[in-house]
Amino acid sequence: MKFATRAIHSGEEPDCRNGFGDVVSPIHMSTTYASTEPGRATRGYDYTRTANPTRTALETKLASLEGAKHGLAFASGLAAETTLFLSLLKRGDNVLAAEDLYGGTRRLLVNVLSGFGISTTFADFTDPDALRSKFRKKTALLWMESPSNPLMKVSDIRLISEIAHEHGAISVVDNTFMSPFLQHPLKLGADIVLHSTTKYIAGHSDVLGGAVMLSDDALFERIHFNQNAAGAVPSPFDSFLVMRGAKTLHLRMQRHCENAAELASFLEERKEISHVLYPGLESHPQHRLASRQADGFGGMLSFEISGSEADARKFVRRLKLFALAESLGGVESLIEIPALMTHASVPESERRRLGINGRLIRLSAGIEDIDDLKDDLLQALKGM
Ligand SMILES: Cc1ncc(COP(=O)(O)O)c(C=O)c1O
Repeated sequence: MKFATRAIHSGEEPDCRNGFGDVVSPIHMSTTYASTEPGRATRGYDYTRTANPTRTALETKLASLEGAKHGLAFASGLAAETTLFLSLLKRGDNVLAAEDLYGGTRRLLVNVLSGFGISTTFADFTDPDALRSKFRKKTALLWMESPSNPLMKVSDIRLISEIAHEHGAISVVDNTFMSPFLQHPLKLGADIVLHSTTKYIAGHSDVLGGAVMLSDDALFERIHFNQNAAGAVPSPFDSFLVMRGAKTLHLRMQRHCENAAELASFLEERKEISHVLYPGLESHPQHRLASRQADGFGGMLSFEISGSEADARKFVRRLKLFALAESLGGVESLIEIPALMTHASVPESERRRLGINGRLIRLSAGIEDIDDLKDDLLQALKGM
């Protein structure tokens, strides 16, 4: 079945024999399930933290969308990350991570995992030779986002996964920015895909969620065990909301991509903007890799205001349609200054070295009418 059909039907086949033929998966609120025999779960369910039918429906859909054998749903993207790290790492291990990545992932690695004796090395994943030199004996896991956040650097997932495997490390791709509709890391050789389903998959900025998708049975068993043992699972209602959003992912992503591409070209022409970072632009350093690696360029872009940091702050305050807000991937357009918002927890010296300055603005293109979005940007740029 093709993506659109899987998005709507996977995990939600109506059950006319044992159920009521619900076309939409019911929200199973029960935390516990009665059984007829001690120790024998009813159709595999005994307690909702361990398994819940609404969550199972979501997990089946997520695995299907990512082309994975297994899908696991979590209470948030960071809950998924925590469970993953807990499952795959032990004291003394090293994580090799892309140097500009979501600030919360960096915070978890640097401020939390370090306390358990797990170290992190950061590297520029667009330079495979430099990356090779960063491996340590105990590097057990390689973590990448492509495009990266907020600098929109594109990494070669196939090559980097090969490099990870040469060194005996597991490769994980945070595929949140692209969604399973545009990019398929497992097919490119990655071992595990992670999502903050809070973003494009749920798509309406009204529910937190996370997901891990993979095809390796042994790795799945470890993570599945810890999903229950650590308990960072989504509620049945949240599972339902994520599932409802996922059904329109393909339609929304197409419009997100169209709007982002239009806005990127529009901003690139403006003298008030010094440069635009969007993988769909020919000026993007990894444009050819991005064209080859994914089925679209996504709905995220970053750009730098030509003027001062105060101008950048004035610009985002003046916008009327774009909400000045963290997060991304919802139907509404959002804008933010990473240095002051999503990446404020990254040490200033590190931000400066990477180029995440106060003039850099990150934009999540929603699915509104493109003319209204352009008009809003135009009025906010006036006189800058
Ligand atoms: C790329 C990326 N990964 C992971 C996360 C964490 O997800 P959550 O906020 O659902 O915990 C985020 C959140 O912004 C993100 O942007």
